[in-house]
Amino acid sequence: MSLTDYFVRKPEFEIVALKTADLPQAAAIHKLRFTPAWSDGELHSLLTQDTVFGFIARQSNAYTRPFISQPLVGGFVLSRVAAGEAEILTIGVDPRFSRLGLGWRLMRAALREARDQAAETVFLEVDETNTAAVGLYRKLGFAKVGERRAYYQGVNGAKTAALVMRLDLG
Ligand SMILES: CC(C)(COP(=O)(O)OP(=O)(O)OC[C@H]1O[C@@H](n2cnc3c(N)ncnc32)[C@H](O)[C@@H]1OP(=O)(O)O)[C@@H](O)C(=O)NCCC(=O)NCCS
Repeated sequence: MSLTDYFVRKPEFEIVALKTADLPQAAAIHKLRFTPAWSDGELHSLLTQDTVFGFIARQSNAYTRPFISQPLVGGFVLSRVAAGEAEILTIGVDPRFSRLGLGWRLMRAALREARDQAAETVFLEVDETNTAAVGLYRKLGFAKVGERRAYYQGVNGAKTAALVMRLDLG
């Protein structure tokens, strides 16, 4: 391996359970992708609930030096399971790593864990204008089961509907 390879390496990612120590990096991604963003404190109060779990995409080929650098986080997902129903609370992928399959892999991990925790259905809400997320959810098999009109307020003040989507884990 050349010296350049050490520093300019195409990141590869593994999907691992989200731990509280990862929350500052998860909050940084949330801030890039959502307004208002959730702070690491808010994410912490969710993740420490018994019913809540999450996954992160963590760089698996990082060249790190202890205490100096840490592996990149490409995205994360947070979900809740209660009484046989799961909910996707949030998912975000760092825009630098968009369309590389991380959203798909994070969702697949969350759905697998939800099934392992005896969830039979998964629900989520998504802005109808969010083409990327709606595309991801449809590709995973989610279908629209409801709509909340004028639910989100866009930056230009226009209100958009939230689609309620469901996937049966069967
Ligand atoms: C939605 C999001 C998580 C997708 O993550 P991603 O890693 O870029 O998506 P993936 O590469 O895994 O894409 C999986 C599938 O989703 C769909 N998709 C993803 N981005 C898309 C886009 N920009 N336009 C249309 N479809 C898209 C496609 O079906 C894609 O499959 P394909 O690449 O084989 O066509 C990401 O765009 C994001 O973080 N958005 C901002 C936060 C957000 O909106 N979260 C959801 C709130 S409900």
